[in-house]
Amino acid sequence: MENQSDDVPLGPVKIGVTYNLKHADANDKAPDEQAEFDSIDTVLAIEAAIRKHGHDTVLLEADESLPEKLRQALPTIVFNIAEGLGGRAREAQTPAVLNLLHIPFTGSDETTLCLALDKALTKRLLATYHIPTPHYRVYTPGEPVRTEGLHFPVIVKPNAEGSSKGISDVCIAKSASELRALVQKNWTLYGGAVLAEDFISGREFTVALLGNGASLQVFPPMEILYHNTPIEGYNVYNYTVKQEYTKYVSYRCPAEINIDLEQEMVRLAKKVFSVLECRDFARVDFRVDEAGRIYFIEINPLPGLAPHYSDYPMIAEFCGVSHEDLVYSVLRAGAQRAGIAL
Ligand SMILES: Nc1ncnc2c1ncn2[C@@H]1O[C@H](COP(=O)(O)OP(=O)(O)O)[C@@H](O)[C@H]1O
Ligand SMILES: [Mg+2]
Repeated sequence: MENQSDDVPLGPVKIGVTYNLKHADANDKAPDEQAEFDSIDTVLAIEAAIRKHGHDTVLLEADESLPEKLRQALPTIVFNIAEGLGGRAREAQTPAVLNLLHIPFTGSDETTLCLALDKALTKRLLATYHIPTPHYRVYTPGEPVRTEGLHFPVIVKPNAEGSSKGISDVCIAKSASELRALVQKNWTLYGGAVLAEDFISGREFTVALLGNGASLQVFPPMEILYHNTPIEGYNVYNYTVKQEYTKYVSYRCPAEINIDLEQEMVRLAKKVFSVLECRDFARVDFRVDEAGRIYFIEINPLPGLAPHYSDYPMIAEFCGVSHEDLVYSVLRAGAQRAGIAL
């Protein structure tokens, strides 16, 4: 057969981009309510990266009318960054619709996205593979806040949020009574289950992965270096820090770490990626305590792609990969899985 090689483009392909935009809402209960959604600039940067290669694009806001919009547009493949609209399974909404309509898409499928969004469930699964992760307890709304198994201080965060939602400047509990108050506050603001975890003081790293199977590429770990922190005595990459990152942190990639630590972190990142059956791209957060022990904190199978802001494109940039090239590499990885030549 002709033209089946990846190196031989077949001509323009119609590529959809699915996303959920930030919409300021007077009913928002918390200041970080819109944090996980994307700005139009990110969507346009993704579109430009795809168009640069001569493809046609169609922009699709992933709202209730997404199924109709997809049936009309009939894209060959979709570049998906949609965070979804509400509920624990929100990141699965768009992938599930795309699968229902037999439209291939970039990134992980709905099962992986659902699982990874539930931090406690992910930790429980990874524990069976001996991936080290801080001790934790999870509290569903209204249940008694027990502390057995925890070691104060602990960090308190919504169990199924991302983008530092719920990790405010008050997120550390040093006692059972502080923990009870924080859990209650999180229940009120975010509704769902709340996770409390031993706070691992020490260095913080994040590792970006790109591709699949034998061609899975791992970028060198990026360290988040704290100069200031809104929480006295605790380095937390929280909402305040992410909003004004130049004031609080700087980034170093490749991180200055010894080769054994780096190799172990890369091994763990790949293991997490494969155990969760991630596809095309993901980012894994780690902390390393004073004794050099690595702890898995969370995985983002749908990492932010905001140019010059999100960690994932920042890591790529440190490694000489432009935002455009990164986006196109993610697209190629997804297309290759689906047998689409680009
Ligand atoms: N167990 C922990 N020990 C120390 N710091 C933590 C821990 N859990 C979270 N953090 C801090 O909080 C930040 C955000 O937590 P994370 O679980 O990655 O949530 P998000 O999904 O909002 O990124 C981390 O980058 C880290 O700085
Ligand atoms: Mg994180």
